[in-house]
Parts: sequence; structure tokens; C-alpha cells
Amino acid sequence: MTPRTCLSIILAAGEGTRMKSAMPKVLHGIAGLPMVAHVARTAQSAGASDVALVVGHGGDEVRKAAEGFAPKAEIFVQAERLGTAHAVLAARQAIARGHDDLLVMFGDTPLVEAESLATARTGLAEGAAVVVIGFRPPSPAGYGRLIEKDGRLIAIREDKDCTDEERKIGFCNAGLMAIAGRHALQLLDEVGNANAKGEFYLTDIVEIADRAGLKVMATEASFESVLGINNRAELAEAEAIWQKRRRRKAMLDGATLIAPETVYFSHDTQIGADVTVEPNVWFGVDVKIADGALIHAYSHLEGASVGPRAEIGPFARLRPGADLHEKSKVGNFCEVKKATVEKGAKVNHLTYIGDARVGAGANIGAGTITCNYDGYSKFFTDIGEGAFIGSNTSLVAPIAIGARSYIASGSVITEEVPEDALAFGRARQKTMPGKGKELRQRFADAAAAKKKSAAE
Ligand code: UD1
Ligand code: CA
Repeated sequence: MTPRTCLSIILAAGEGTRMKSAMPKVLHGIAGLPMVAHVARTAQSAGASDVALVVGHGGDEVRKAAEGFAPKAEIFVQAERLGTAHAVLAARQAIARGHDDLLVMFGDTPLVEAESLATARTGLAEGAAVVVIGFRPPSPAGYGRLIEKDGRLIAIREDKDCTDEERKIGFCNAGLMAIAGRHALQLLDEVGNANAKGEFYLTDIVEIADRAGLKVMATEASFESVLGINNRAELAEAEAIWQKRRRRKAMLDGATLIAPETVYFSHDTQIGADVTVEPNVWFGVDVKIADGALIHAYSHLEGASVGPRAEIGPFARLRPGADLHEKSKVGNFCEVKKATVEKGAKVNHLTYIGDARVGAGANIGAGTITCNYDGYSKFFTDIGEGAFIGSNTSLVAPIAIGARSYIASGSVITEEVPEDALAFGRARQKTMPGKGKELRQRFADAAAAKKKSAAE
């Protein structure tokens, strides 16, 4: 049997005014990824090979963003917002191509799980024309109610159109639906707008299909997974749910999170087995943590790779391009940007390493700074294997420090240092015995004279 073809139609034409944002609602992020991109991804995991994105307000911005998260998506514009069925029909051309299954999804309902969609598609494969994804919210007010008769789903009634009796029903429409491709256009074209809001409701296809003698059914998803986002408080709720799921997955995959509720993942964080993450760690986008790494508390990572059994923090900041190799160490109050820290090298305290290579086994003393920027351009610092950089050193790039060389602490290094050399870049110390005592006496006498003249 050839697998059933599937088109997902993602509705994203809403204005999202309650976000109070210059940015279209569906581009607001969860775990660093626009919510509509989460939806497109989930559709793909549920087997949708084609994606139709229906945009309205802010369409150009959404279209542009889609190039990144769903480059093959076809964009349709719903110029006038006349209801969910009208929005689906904006993608008429795509529907007319005749997929076996259609999945209608909302761009503002990002937490839906691929399994829920797959279950709905199974309903289609078993002969249903429409499969509705239902849920039981704590309070059903505002949602469409699933009207059942003799165990059959016969209609969905929008809250505003419900009778008092119907309003008591707790089983509600999540909004997402699977529709058999061969019936879709015929059902959608029959939808009218004689209802309280004067809109073309997608939900009406349930009654239309039932009356035509087609099979209609409902599946059930969890309340959390079909949370729709209208404002930033709900956005934060969705973020919390997403993070909770991701933390659990990290732990089940073999990472130890000591205080999971304080660790924040990005949508693309890769984290290996036997990694330990201490409390209050932030993973920004594009971070990879290899097996056995140890991430101490309060570290902030973004665009970085942490190698096997490497150790960072507490209070480490890894910025884009930080590449820490096996068993390397980046300690407290250190910042690493666009730099490789090779095997076993140590950058332990209060240091900035930017645009650099730190060779294997090198030791970077406290307070070392790579001076990589002159206000216009960035320059590279190359530190050879096994080099020892004394504390409080400024390495003025471009500069190369030879392997196994030794830099005296407090140096400002501006010229290349060859292998195995010792370099000083500071004035030598001068010590004058007894001079301190003499100085002290002089200062004390001056202060006493001043006090005396003030009293007179
Ligand atoms: C919809 C359902 C309701 C369900 C609820 C779940 C209908 C008629 N009602 O109601 O049964 O309980 O979702 O949250 O489907 N959209 C467009 N163009 C439009 C209208 C809507 O793109 O012309 C998009 C919106 O941006 C949104 C989604 O479709 O992403 C749902 O629309 P919305 O108006 O929020 O529907 P609800 O009234 O919440
Ligand atoms: Ca809604």
C-alpha cells in the first residue's frame, strides 16, 4: 500500500491584536522558534509532505519567515477575514490537487502533538470524511461544542450559537481537523455564514458531512496540547508547557538536570547522555552538548558546542562560534565567542576569548583578554598548544602565541611570541628598601600641618 498523501493547511491570517505587537502573532517565538514554525514542523512529523500557509495581516513578514522554517510551503493570502472555512478555501488551488488527507491547523496553536494528528489521519484512513480533534477544557466558554447524538458526532456549535443546554457540553472543538481530500472542496463550498458572527465556519462541515451520510468522528487531545495563543500571558504558558516537555525528554535521554524547572532549552538544543546541568542554565539557539559534559549553574549558551566531558561555568557565557573540545574547561565569569578551545585547554577565571584558537592543553590565566576589536574590524588570536598565559594579560590581536611559550602575568602582548619563548610585556618591578616608611612619614606630616592651619 502506498502511503496516503497529506497536505497541511495552516491558518495564520489572524490579526493577533491582543498580542499588542508590531510583529504578527504567529511569529512570536516559543523556545526561540516562531509558533507557526512549530505547527509546520509538527505537521511534517505527522506525515504532511505539503504545507499551505494562509496569511493575512503582516503576510509579507510571515511569508519571509516561512522561507526559513518551511521553504517549500505555498503561501495563500486571505485578504478579507471571513471565517475559518473561508480561510481554508484561500488554499483552494492546493486542495484541488487532490491529496488523500488534509490537516487543518491553526498557526496560533503550536503545542499540538504529532500523535494527535496521526490519530486523526488514521480516522480518515478508516473511512471517515471528517475527524475533529476535541478536548475538555477546564471551562468550555468560548469554544465550539461537539454535539453528539447516539454516539455520533453530528455538529459543532460555536459558543455564540449554542442553546443553554448545548452550552453545558464539556467536550469542545480544538479547531484542528483532518478532512478527506476527496470530499473537502464539496463540503467547504457548502458552508454558509448564517450564524451569530456572520462568518464562514469551518466547523459547519461536520453537520454538512453528517447530513450527506458521510462518516464524521471526534478524537480527543489534552487541553495543554491544543492551547491557543492570543496574548503574551498565554505565550508564556505555552513556553512553560514546551519547556516542561523538553526537560523531561532530556532526562529520559540520559541527562541529569538537578533543578529541571530552572533550565531553559531552545527548539534545537542537542544534549547528549550523561550530561549534568546544574540549576539556572539558559540554552539559546544552536547549542550542542556532547556526552558527559558538565554545565555548572548560571551558564548562558548560544550558538556553541561543548565537547565530550568538557566543563563550563558556573557563570560561563558561550556566544556564537564557541567550540569547546573534549575535556576543555571554561570557568566562572568567562566569555568565549567565535573561538576554539582545544582538547584539555583551560580558561578558568574572568576571561574574554574572542576570535581565537586556544591550543590543546593551554592554560589561560585569570583576567586574560583577547583584544580582538579596534572599533572597526575583528582580529584573530592564535594560542599554541600548551602555552601558559599569565594572569591579567592583554593579547592584542592579530597575534600568535607559540606553542609551550610562557607569558608573564600583567603583560600587554603586541608582537608574535615564538614557540617555547618567555615573553614580558610590562615594566620590570623596582624595589626600594625603606622608601615606604619614608613616604608614609611625609604624608602624615603634610596631613598634620594642614589640620593645624585649618584650626588657626
Ligand atoms: C475556533 C473554532 C472553535 C474552536 C476554537 C478553538 C471555528 C468556526 N471555530 O474558534 O470551534 O473551539 O477555534 O480555539 O472554526 N483564522 C483565519 N482567517 C479567518 C478566521 C480565522 O486565518 O478568517 C485563523 C485565526 O488566525 C486562528 C484560527 O483561524 O488561528 C481560529 O480562528 P479564531 O477566530 O480564533 O476562531 P475561534 O473563534 O477561536
Ligand atoms: Ca481562537
